[in-house]
Amino acid sequence: MTGSRGRFAAIAGTGSALPERVVPNSVFESLVDTSDEWIVERTGIRERRFASEGETTSSLATAAGRSALQAAGMAPEQLDLIIVATITPDRPLPSVAVMVQDALGVTCPAFDINAACAGFSYGTTLARAMIESGGAETVLLVGAETLSRRMNMADRSTCVLFGDGAGGAVFVPASEPGVVDANVAADGRAAGLLTIPGGGTAPPITEDGEPAIDKIVMGSGKDVYRRAVVGMTDACRSLLDKSGVAADDVRWLIPHQANARIMKTVADRLGFGPDRVISDVDRIGNTSAASIPIALDEAWRDGRIQPGDLVLMTSFGAGLAWGASLVRWTAGAPAPRPRTAAVTRTLETAP
Ligand code: ACO
Repeated sequence: MTGSRGRFAAIAGTGSALPERVVPNSVFESLVDTSDEWIVERTGIRERRFASEGETTSSLATAAGRSALQAAGMAPEQLDLIIVATITPDRPLPSVAVMVQDALGVTCPAFDINAACAGFSYGTTLARAMIESGGAETVLLVGAETLSRRMNMADRSTCVLFGDGAGGAVFVPASEPGVVDANVAADGRAAGLLTIPGGGTAPPITEDGEPAIDKIVMGSGKDVYRRAVVGMTDACRSLLDKSGVAADDVRWLIPHQANARIMKTVADRLGFGPDRVISDVDRIGNTSAASIPIALDEAWRDGRIQPGDLVLMTSFGAGLAWGASLVRWTAGAPAPRPRTAAVTRTLETAP
């Protein structure tokens, strides 16, 4: 918990960006054998955002990064590292992070990480380590996804789950711990549970000689569900134990916004009532690496998260990879800004 050299890392501000296009559950009723009722009951999701033509992971990431910098009262020139967590980069090369760097007009180091839905947890451990070690002064971490472009719209078990968006945070040095502690874990033995089989450099054909699909494939939703509950609960418990913090002293739990039932089960096992859980899954769906920072940003901007609050964030996803981080909130109210993309709602009739 103690930063080396007496340096700690804290979050100075957050930001987010959502596509304008709202896609309600009813859209999927015309694509697959499903219903709004089933989706709401089994996942808690009512609608999600899909990127429109011209919107990309990098454009959403840039907007979220700008918003986080503005909220932190910092100029892009103050950045000395940009990390983007994503599984849906604009293209294999270059990284989304260098596109964000270029768009912000700066020259600091920049790279992507792929830890799927655990990307923000992995990125937080990296940002914290860079700051505590003195390797960086100001780190922008963004989770950004356009999962709609990697969804199989004929597969009802996955197409209803995901959405697009980006969220980010600016990490700075502090004399007291902002990031109190963080952990990450992975289990590659279960890698086959959630994959995008095609689109990489391994031979792109299946055993049947067919091209491998470059869309998300989920082996068993139930298995992912069970492992997500266990992974996030264990990550939070071990983090709280190691930090010597009681769950009752944590003001907010932000679980990965995958499924309202998974989130509730994790919260119940950790002893958090609904009044201490931040959830936007009904409006945003599962945005993988962007899920936690989008929820965090909204809760900070609407005043739920206040300076001094302890915020426990936990994630789980493909890999399998998971993690948790505990943050003592230090940032005051953000500078006002228009949530341009988020406030304009246009209902879509087709994805
Ligand atoms: N509409 C209607 N029926 C559906 C749909 C759908 N969209 N999807 C699946 N079903 C059917 C199944 O085919 C099955 O039918 P069957 O009994 O005839 O075989 C039935 O519903 C029940 O399926 P289950 O898998 O038992 O349903 P469950 O209650 O587990 O809910 C769900 C499925 C929502 C996928 C759930 O298991 C889940 O959320 N798992 C986690 C998956 C996840 O979050 N993946 C994202 C990436 S990883 C992460 O972010 C944690």
